[in-house]
Amino acid sequence: MTDISNMRKQFERNPEIHLNEVPDNPHTLFDEWFAVARNEQIVEPNGFVLATSNGEGRLRTRTVLLKYFDETGYVFFTNYGSQKAKDIAENKMVSACFPWYTLERQIMIDGPVERVSTKESLKYFSSRPRGSQIGAWVSEQSSVVSSRAMLMNKVKQLSKSFMNKDVPLPEFWGGYRIMPKRFEFWQGQPSRLHDRIEYLLQEDGTWIKQRLAP
Ligand SMILES: Cc1cc2nc3c(=O)[nH]c(=O)nc-3n(C[C@H](O)[C@H](O)[C@H](O)COP(=O)(O)O)c2cc1C
Repeated sequence: MTDISNMRKQFERNPEIHLNEVPDNPHTLFDEWFAVARNEQIVEPNGFVLATSNGEGRLRTRTVLLKYFDETGYVFFTNYGSQKAKDIAENKMVSACFPWYTLERQIMIDGPVERVSTKESLKYFSSRPRGSQIGAWVSEQSSVVSSRAMLMNKVKQLSKSFMNKDVPLPEFWGGYRIMPKRFEFWQGQPSRLHDRIEYLLQEDGTWIKQRLAP
């Protein structure tokens, strides 16, 4: 047995959160915390763990990158044939966790996702480096592949066929927008008395905010 039970960190970086001092709109708080994560130059501040489940309740998680966000939602890009896309087709509810350990913070977002329009996917796809664009064509994400050499051969073939042309947007690739119904902002505090602020979206489009026990 590898016993790591004494690995313990005191959380003391951040001042306490008071419910009446945080914005009423969770998107504003996300903006504020994201700006801190970005300024601190933590590794991949836009990386988050995305949980999906299929129709039978089998769960799966993986990291993806947030590419842009506003009050309409939080957008990531992926392969529409991937396992996560198959899960989403069966259950559009997802959960996202931004694990900013060095900031002693995490943000969780729950809500349904929808595909972004082809126009929107094209706009982002066109901004990607050419190698990544070809990579999107090459990889049937989440399917079994016989070897890495097979993938590299496909890169060669496709690089040839797209030579001197813009790489088109594959129809099996694009974005999803997470439309939050719940946010949780978590911040470490001494003696495990952490701050947890939950926001829940109401029918009328307003948010309620409340403190949760750590
Ligand atoms: C830091 C990091 C960023 C990633 N970003 C993405 C991403 O934006 N989109 C994506 O499809 N996969 C991304 N991946 C790969 C996924 O974690 C995952 O392997 C892939 O999407 C297939 O997942 P699935 O089989 O569950 O669909 C990233 C992985 C890491 C470690």
